[in-house]
Amino acid sequence: EKGGYDWFMLKEIAEQPQAVADTLLGRHTVDGQLQLDEMRLSDDELRDVDKIIIVACGTASYAGLVAKYAIEHWTRIPCEVELASEFRYRDPILDRSTLVVSISQSGETMDTLMAIRYARQQRARVLSICNTNGSTIPRESDAVLYTHAGPEIAVASTKGFLSQIVACYLLGLYLAQVKGTKYGDEIADIVHELEKIPAGIQRMLDDADQVRKLAQDLVGSKSVLFLGRHVGFPVALEGALKLKELAYIHAEGFAAGELKHGPIAVIEEGVPVFVVVPPKARDQLQEKIVSNIQEIRARGARTIVLAEDGDEDVVPYADHLIRMPKVPTLLQPLVAAVPLQVFACELADQLGHDVDQPRNLAKSVTVE
Ligand code: F6R
Repeated sequence: EKGGYDWFMLKEIAEQPQAVADTLLGRHTVDGQLQLDEMRLSDDELRDVDKIIIVACGTASYAGLVAKYAIEHWTRIPCEVELASEFRYRDPILDRSTLVVSISQSGETMDTLMAIRYARQQRARVLSICNTNGSTIPRESDAVLYTHAGPEIAVASTKGFLSQIVACYLLGLYLAQVKGTKYGDEIADIVHELEKIPAGIQRMLDDADQVRKLAQDLVGSKSVLFLGRHVGFPVALEGALKLKELAYIHAEGFAAGELKHGPIAVIEEGVPVFVVVPPKARDQLQEKIVSNIQEIRARGARTIVLAEDGDEDVVPYADHLIRMPKVPTLLQPLVAAVPLQVFACELADQLGHDVDQPRNLAKSVTVE
């Protein structure tokens, strides 16, 4: 049933091109117009939305953090992301024009369920992004957008995560289309770029041997750090979470711009640091992160750099270089997350841990 893989997690990592393609399937026309009629919210209701609050837990919340960048950019609607477990305890400001978007692979996470119940009591509209047909969260929501990742068995979410980002993007693009915002002409372009993403993910999978070797080299690490900027920041958080939960070693993700505000103090000789480098086209983000890489390397960090094809600026400062296909900045998480998943999986396997059932964790957390 693991289809020849040692772990469900490996199988599910390998299924990601399909999960992304299936989540896109049937949701846009050939000329890149979104069609999400299944969602049960009318275009008029969507035009009313003046604030979006994403609620989710763990990896799903990182999908939400990625989505915030895209949704605000395309729709110009303010978008917050909040851990579901915090949401209802802080008296959030909600009304009829607030769209609360929950993200949950299982559809059974208690904190997320409680958050959407609270949101509906406060008269907000609730749209849920979910991978499990007929589960509790979609049943209790005003609208649903399913991810079509197929069943996820391994406790650690992988294809769930990528398909959640894709579903959030479909929602963001649809809102932009309905509202006719000024970035609307990007919609068809982005849809076409999304269509190419499964091939990009496949390439990351085909190149995964070097990541597995790296994990074998780093088996003795006490701590591993992850840095990113913009949408690469939540990718760094996700890389760290995967490593913690599977390999049981200390790992932290940082926004690279925060280094000087504290985290750089923990950089010492030999500590492995993954750095997700944004595409060069993007403002000055790429240059800034290249200088961050120089800074940490000067302090002895072992740098593992994820950079797009053709970015030669990083080469002198990368102890290990992982290449990614050139994709638009907002889509980069869909390829960058893959080697981080493979790394965590391989390291945990090397340490002799049960990759699919990490200690102390359950696949769906149905208690608060
Ligand atoms: C991490 C992981 C968890 C889940 C979280 C939410 O690999 O799997 O952090 O993402 O428990 O679960 P769902 O998406 O089912 O609500």
